[in-house]
This record gives sequence, C-alpha cells and structure tokens, in this order.
Amino acid sequence: MKEIINVAIDGPAGAGKSTVARAAAKALGYIYVDTGALYRAVGLNALRAGIQTDDADAVTATLGSIRVELKFENGEQLVLLNGENVSSEIRTPDASMAASNVSAIPAVRAFLFDLQRNIAAENDCIMDGRDIGTVVLPDAQVKIFLTASPEIRAKRRYDELIEKGQQVDFKDVLDDLIKRDYNDSHREVAPLRPADDGVIVDTSELTLEESINKVIEVIGEKTA
Ligand code: DC
Repeated sequence: MKEIINVAIDGPAGAGKSTVARAAAKALGYIYVDTGALYRAVGLNALRAGIQTDDADAVTATLGSIRVELKFENGEQLVLLNGENVSSEIRTPDASMAASNVSAIPAVRAFLFDLQRNIAAENDCIMDGRDIGTVVLPDAQVKIFLTASPEIRAKRRYDELIEKGQQVDFKDVLDDLIKRDYNDSHREVAPLRPADDGVIVDTSELTLEESINKVIEVIGEKTA
C-alpha cells in the first residue's frame, strides 16, 4: 500500500498558513485541513450559549452536547457544528478571540484530537494549526513552521477582512494579533512553537507565490 503523506504546517495567526497550505495541497493533490476551524467552532458554540470563552469549566461542560465535524466538498473544507455549516460565521474577530481562549483549555484540545488524527491517518494531507508538528502529528514526514513579523501579519489579516467587507481598524487588528500570539504561545498545553525537526519558513519578505513555492519545495525535499 502506498504510504500516506502528512504535512504539518504550524505558525502564528496571519502568517499565511491557510492560503499557502491550501495552494500547496491543491498543487500536490492532497487534502487541506484547517484545524483552527475546529477551535473556532467550539468558540462560536460558547459565544452563542453566552458563556465566557475563558471559563474552562463552563466551556468544558458544553463539550458533552456538541458535535464538530469536517466535511470536504470539491476539495473545500466545511466545518459543521451540530450539523450546521458554520464555515463563514467562525471567521469574525469575536470568533477568533473565542477560538484562542477555548484552545487553551486542555479538555477542548483532547476533544478535537482524534478527529484530526483520524483524518490524517486516512488521507495525504496538509494540516495547518499550532501544534500539528509537535503534538497532533509528531510523526508527520514534513513539518513546517510558517511565520512573519507581527506588522506584516496584521496588514495581511487587515486586507483580508476589509476585502470581505468587514469594518476594522488596523491598530485593533494588530493588537488582537499580538494578544493572540501571546495566548497561543504561553498556554500550558500544546503551546505554539516550532517542532524540533521542523523547517522554519519566514514569509515576511516573500510574495504569496514565493511562499507557496518554498513550501512545495520543502515538501518535495522531505518526501523524495
Ligand atoms: O488558525 P486560526 O486563526 O483559525 O486559529 C484560531 C485559534 O485556534 C488560534 O488562536 C489558536 C487556536 N488553534 C490551536 O490552538 N491549535 C490549532 N491546531 C489550531 C488553532
């Protein structure tokens, strides 16, 4: 049987992980799995229930009654919360902060672990997140840590939100991003950090196309 190829791409918010991973996956014929969407769905559920997203006990109590699933349609990932497609609703700034908060809760990480592992066990995939190379897929053939300076990442995120028609202020986007970086890299469970055997790709000075090519090149070298 042909070996299943798993590529882990981790890095801070706004480094371009999703765009780069999606394009590289398409070029290689792998599925692209955005694990942030799972934390966003759990965060959105807590927001809808009027729960403080940093209240670990209250958020943990919601896990028994929610179902989070990923579906792939024409190569596009959809995230379902109790059967409802919430793929757009999870993209607001409130849902981003909620995701960052709930992702620090160990029970939430445990809740989403098997789902991620099972997809990777069955598919050639590029999976992006914060702890994919370090915790979820420590045996992935390729581990990449994609990063860029906070200002450049905030500018990219700002442009993306404006393009989607959302009213945002650059300073708020930058402040949010710095706060999320801090949360994500200082939490006790599975903090954001490069895997010991990961390849660091800094995209600050790279165009999107150069970033995609660099990632495809690293995958090619590691899987040759
Ligand atoms: O990649 P993203 O911005 O959609 O992720 C949303 C939040 O989820 C982010 O602040 C950190 C968290 N996250 C995580 O802790 N582990 C992952 N594998 C993916 C995301």
